[in-house]
Amino acid sequence: MMFLRQILNTVLVYERFNDTINHGRNGEGIEMNGRMMLITGGAGFIGSHLTERLLNEGHKVTVLDNFSNGKIENIQHLLDNPLITLVKEDMKKPKKLGQIVNDSDMIFHLAANPEVKLGETGPKTHFEENILATFNLLEAIRKGGTAKTLVFASSSTVYGEARLVPTREDYGPLMPISTYGASKLACEALIAGYTYTFNLRALILRPANIVGSRSNHGVIVDFVKKIKANPRQLGILGDGHQEKSYMHISDCVEAIMHVAGAFAKGTQKIDIYNVGSEDKITVTQIAKIVSEVMGKPNIKYAFTGGVEGGGGWKGDVKIMQLSTDKLQRTGWKPKYSSEQAARLAAKALMRENARAKDGTNTA
Ligand SMILES: NC(=O)c1ccc[n+]([C@@H]2O[C@H](COP(=O)([O-])OP(=O)(O)OC[C@H]3O[C@@H](n4cnc5c(N)ncnc54)[C@H](O)[C@@H]3O)[C@@H](O)[C@H]2O)c1
Repeated sequence: MMFLRQILNTVLVYERFNDTINHGRNGEGIEMNGRMMLITGGAGFIGSHLTERLLNEGHKVTVLDNFSNGKIENIQHLLDNPLITLVKEDMKKPKKLGQIVNDSDMIFHLAANPEVKLGETGPKTHFEENILATFNLLEAIRKGGTAKTLVFASSSTVYGEARLVPTREDYGPLMPISTYGASKLACEALIAGYTYTFNLRALILRPANIVGSRSNHGVIVDFVKKIKANPRQLGILGDGHQEKSYMHISDCVEAIMHVAGAFAKGTQKIDIYNVGSEDKITVTQIAKIVSEVMGKPNIKYAFTGGVEGGGGWKGDVKIMQLSTDKLQRTGWKPKYSSEQAARLAAKALMRENARAKDGTNTA
């Protein structure tokens, strides 16, 4: 019986994954009049957690992803839920986006290439995956003509090397130092322009470093991989004094739900919120946490020295902490500090690695 159910699930997941649009098990189709949530990048790290949370709240969710970085494993455990619709679509060359957007009330736009380091070698990727994809989404909204609420995952990198830390939402001028940050700022500008010109309200969120299960990029993931490969020495990019804010994925999703919920009820055309924890920690502290969690507390650190004043790479903002005053004025505050978030994330990644080794599901 168990075996049969497994086969049935595999077939359903396969069908969903291969169909351009799959309307769910009972074939109800995309709701034309019901409230629908669209999550672009919904098979990615943050997107899959947000999808889970929205489904738990009873919302109908369309997950759109081209699976360039997202994984079916991230959402596989959700695919039996009749409220979910999975669409495989590349937002750079959209085919069904117009229809999907028309059928959605609230759009969480998370699809992007999230790798800051890529900027040195591949600015075109940021232009296409981030700016072009966002432009295509905005055009789909404009052409649809009906009122939409857009929640956009921007980034703390839009601030560049801010002179004021913790950095507030009204800080300026915004001078990103990576092409990733530049692409996010360009998206913000496009969204603002469309918001004032067309039938759209937009909430821009600027998250700090988000960490936790299903993440496949960033410093904690790098350190886990490096320590596994060489448990005697850990190479650390930069001078070790880079200091940043880390937020646990559970706090991030709660913050999104809280602020997006409040924004949806309001009437403001556009608003911006930082999404981060209340403190920051150094990359050396992160190394210490990860090596402790992996049972290698005495590992030797080898610092590369870094570029331009000790950053990890060109485009790496050395000191980043976001002011969370505006977020907290809404009555919400993060549960975890940066250190707690990093520790929880390292533990989750270790569990995932162990499950991957066993061949059991990682979600
Ligand atoms: N993780 C962080 O620390 C962090 C911090 C600040 C901002 N953000 C932003 O939050 C969003 C989600 O980040 P994440 O860490 O979950 O990254 P992720 O790579 O796990 O998720 C992004 C998803 O978008 C999909 N995607 C990329 N290009 C696409 C395209 N052209 N069409 C359709 N789907 C596409 C990918 O397959 C992936 O599933 C991104 O916009 C990222 O820039 C992330």
